[in-house]
Amino acid sequence: MEAHIVEWLNLTVRWIHMITGIAWIGASFYFIFLENNLNRIQKLRPELAGNLWAIHGGGFYYLEKYKLAPDPVPEHLHWFKWEAYFTWISGVALLAIVYYYNASFYMLDPGVADISANTAIGIGIATMVLGWLIYDLMCKSALVNKGWLFAIIGFVLVTALAYGLSQFLSARAAYIHVGAMLGTLMAANVFFVIIPAQKAMVKAALNGEDFDPLPGQKALTRSIHNNYMTLPVLFIMISNHFPSTFGNSNSWLILAGLILVGAAVRHWFNLRGKGQKNYWLLPASIIILLALVYLTRPIALPVSADASNVTALTDASAFELIDIHCSSCHSVNPSSTMFAAAPKGVVFDTLADIKANPSLIKAQTVNSKIMPLGNSTNMQDSERQLLGNWLDQLASPQAAQQP
Ligand code: HEC
Repeated sequence: MEAHIVEWLNLTVRWIHMITGIAWIGASFYFIFLENNLNRIQKLRPELAGNLWAIHGGGFYYLEKYKLAPDPVPEHLHWFKWEAYFTWISGVALLAIVYYYNASFYMLDPGVADISANTAIGIGIATMVLGWLIYDLMCKSALVNKGWLFAIIGFVLVTALAYGLSQFLSARAAYIHVGAMLGTLMAANVFFVIIPAQKAMVKAALNGEDFDPLPGQKALTRSIHNNYMTLPVLFIMISNHFPSTFGNSNSWLILAGLILVGAAVRHWFNLRGKGQKNYWLLPASIIILLALVYLTRPIALPVSADASNVTALTDASAFELIDIHCSSCHSVNPSSTMFAAAPKGVVFDTLADIKANPSLIKAQTVNSKIMPLGNSTNMQDSERQLLGNWLDQLASPQAAQQP
């Protein structure tokens, strides 16, 4: 029953997280589009910075941007902040429901480090808090005005974080915490810098004072940083669907590559929006992506000494191996209290179930060591190797001819 409730909590909060995330990033993309497409020259009233006509959903829209605050300041002003806050709140809730609630399975990997579940959770939370403190210090230093240097140092630090986390947490947890840290920076930028700056602007306008442009400029810088983080964060949020990325033995390097591609593509869009042509960013991104495809190619595990002197698995012994290592979760009625139903609907109750999807099993268990989750059953490399050989045989033509 508890597992069932947790599953529905997961479903609901994940749904909310997606909706608010789409609203937040969607609004952010829309305002960047506006900035890049405003008419700033033709027939503008003197108080305007630009305007834009658009057609959408069967109606014409007309929008104006002011150089300074309008006079009087309108009573109803839309702020676009709750999308950001709720995306972060639902994200942290999801982190707790999925990762911290079952930390020993999702956060730990005994093949990586021998730490307790609480230590792992502590590392996860510290990543988000320290990440923000360091980033905020960087933004308050002179470094922030050196765009490229800031970007390079930021990228090196994120890569170092990915590497550091991969030395303590399961690869899955390491990935999601890099994403959670970046998401925290984005939401904290809105909460601590962008919204306060806007509040100061509104207050100054209401009091008829000249407003200090500095907070607004700082807010813009943070907003640009957020813009570059969106594409990498979006990938990390779906990364768990791609075991060849986080399941790779150099998972942190793959993540760094994908972050680079995301930021580069964002930069290309930003340049294009400003009417600047760039010919190398997209091809370079594609080359990095191809390099990642190559780096993550399936590699057979080395045959260990104890595996080489054992004969190949029979169907019965393969079934037994799966039964020991997988069936507590992957069964129509899982004996594990964590799951009310088989995770992802993947069931290994019969030999036919197992034979139905050899490549999926191989990807999770042989080409990477993602399954068993958290290696809770302590599956050995030699067992993975034997299972891999058996699965290969299933996929080979000779095996297919047998009834
Ligand atoms: C402790 C519970 C547990 C054990 C034991 C376990 N799994 Fe899983 N398995 C999961 C969970 C949870 C997921 C879903 C992961 C996700 O959300 O990405 C999963 C997903 C899968 C998937 C689907 C992956 C996908 O993305 O489609 C396969 C295949 C799989 N497991 C195979 C295995 C094999 C083979 C074993 C044994 C060697 C095993 N699992 C042992 C919990 C477990």
